[in-house]
Amino acid sequence: MASVDVGVALLGYGTVGASVNRLLVESADEIERATGHRLRIVRALVRDADKERSFAAADGVLTTDFAAVRDDPSIRVVAEVMGGLDPAGGYVRELLRAGKSVVTANKQLVAREGADLFAIASEAGVQLRFEASVCAAIPVVKVLRESLVVTNVHRVLGIVNGTTNFILSRMEQGGSYAEALAEAQQLGYAEADPTDDVNGADAAAKMAILATVAFGSRVALSDVDMRGITEIEPAHVVAAADLGMVVRLVGIASLLDGKVDVRVQPAFVERSHPLAAVDGAFNAVMLQGDAIREITLEGPGAGGIETASAVVADLVSVVGTAGTGFLQNDACWRELDKLPDGEWRSPFYVHLDVVDRPGVLAHAASRFAAHEVSIAQLVQRVEDGQAALELVLHTAPLGAVKAALVEIAALPEVLGPPFVAPVLSERPL
Ligand SMILES: NC(=O)c1ccc[n+]([C@@H]2O[C@H](COP(=O)([O-])OP(=O)(O)OC[C@H]3O[C@@H](n4cnc5c(N)ncnc54)[C@H](OP(=O)(O)O)[C@@H]3O)[C@@H](O)[C@H]2O)c1
Repeated sequence: MASVDVGVALLGYGTVGASVNRLLVESADEIERATGHRLRIVRALVRDADKERSFAAADGVLTTDFAAVRDDPSIRVVAEVMGGLDPAGGYVRELLRAGKSVVTANKQLVAREGADLFAIASEAGVQLRFEASVCAAIPVVKVLRESLVVTNVHRVLGIVNGTTNFILSRMEQGGSYAEALAEAQQLGYAEADPTDDVNGADAAAKMAILATVAFGSRVALSDVDMRGITEIEPAHVVAAADLGMVVRLVGIASLLDGKVDVRVQPAFVERSHPLAAVDGAFNAVMLQGDAIREITLEGPGAGGIETASAVVADLVSVVGTAGTGFLQNDACWRELDKLPDGEWRSPFYVHLDVVDRPGVLAHAASRFAAHEVSIAQLVQRVEDGQAALELVLHTAPLGAVKAALVEIAALPEVLGPPFVAPVLSERPL
C-alpha cells in the first residue's frame, strides 16, 4: 500500500509538544505500518521561535503566526499542547471550523468548554480527541469509550493527581504537609504554584472528563464536589496507619439510580485496596461495571514523553479512522441528573477531638444512632488530658453523617470541627 503524507501541526512546542515531535520522528515507521500514513509536523505555534528546544524542530516549522497553521491546507490534524483557556480555546474552535481534527492534552479546556467544542467538531465533521488530558500515558479514555462500550460502568475511582499522591505518600514516612510539598517542588513533581493540585481543581477537571465519558452524560466542572489536601495533618496519616489505611486524594464518580455524583476528596484507603498501592507521583484509575467487575489502570500521570505518547496515539487514531460519530467525538448521548449530595453513600472515617471525660463517647454514638448511622470500628486515644476519637462508620448516606456531625460538633465536650473522609475498602463495610 502506498503511504500517504499527513500534515500535522502543533499548538505549543514546550515539554509535551517537543516530545510529540520526537515520537513522531522516531516512530514514523511504526505509525506508517499501523495506519498507512506518514505523519509530518508542518508547523508548530510558539511564543518565541528563537528559543532553544529540547528536541529541535525542522527548519521553518516553528511559527508565531496562528494563521499559518489555520490556513495551511496540507495540515489535516492539530495537537493542542499549549495549555490555558485563552487563546487555546479560540484557536481550537477556529481549527475545527476550518475542517481540521484536533487532539488536546488540555484538561481545563475539555472540562470547562467541552460541550461547545464537541458541538463545533460535530458540525464541522471532524474529530476532537482528548486522551492526554486525563492521566497522561494511561489510556483510560480509549478503554472507556471503545473497549468497555457494552459495559455499564457505574463507578470510577481515581488517583488522578501525581503531586498530591507524592505529598501524601511522603507524609507516611514522617514530616508535615509543608515539608512534603517543598520536597515535591524540589524534585519537579509540583509546580512553583501548586494551588490547582493541592486544592483538588486539577483532579476535579480530570474526574469531570472521566465521568462524562464513563456515564455518557455531561458532567460540568462545577458539578464536582471538591476538597483538597491542605487540611491533612500528620495526625490523620498516623491515624490512618493505625487503622491499616493510607490517606489518598481520591476522585469518585458514581452512577446511582440513574443519577450522577462526582467528588474529589482525601479518603482513607484500606491497605488491601488496589488504590492504596499507588505510590509517589503515579496515577491509577479503577473502573467498576456490570460485566467487568473491576479493572485498574495504573501508570505515569504526567511528564513530557508520557503525555506525548497519548497525544500521538490520538493522532494515529484520527488518521486511522474515517468519518465521525460517537467513538470519535462527544461521548454524551443522554442527560442524567446530579445525585443530591446527601444521598451519596460510603463508609466514612471520622476524627473528633474531645475532652477526656466519661460519657463523651456515648453522647457521640447516640447522635450517630439517631441518624441511623452505625459504627464499625472505634479507637480512643488520650494524650495530655485531651482525647481523640477515631471512628470508622458503616456505609451510610452522606446527608445522615453530616447531620449527625453537626449535632456532635455542638456538644460541649467536642473540641473543634470534626474531620470526615470516605473510606475505600475491598470488603463490605
Ligand atoms: N507537562 C506535563 O507533564 C503534562 C501532563 C499532562 C497534560 N499536560 C498538558 O499539556 C499542555 C502543555 O503542557 P507543557 O507542559 O508542554 O507546557 P509548556 O512546556 O509550558 O509548553 C507550552 C507551549 O505553548 C506555547 N505557548 C503558550 N502560550 C502561547 C501563546 N499564547 N501563543 C503561542 N504559543 C504559546 C509555548 O511557547 P514558547 O515555548 O515559545 O514559550 C510553549 O511552546 C497543557 O495543557 C498541560 O496541562 C502536560
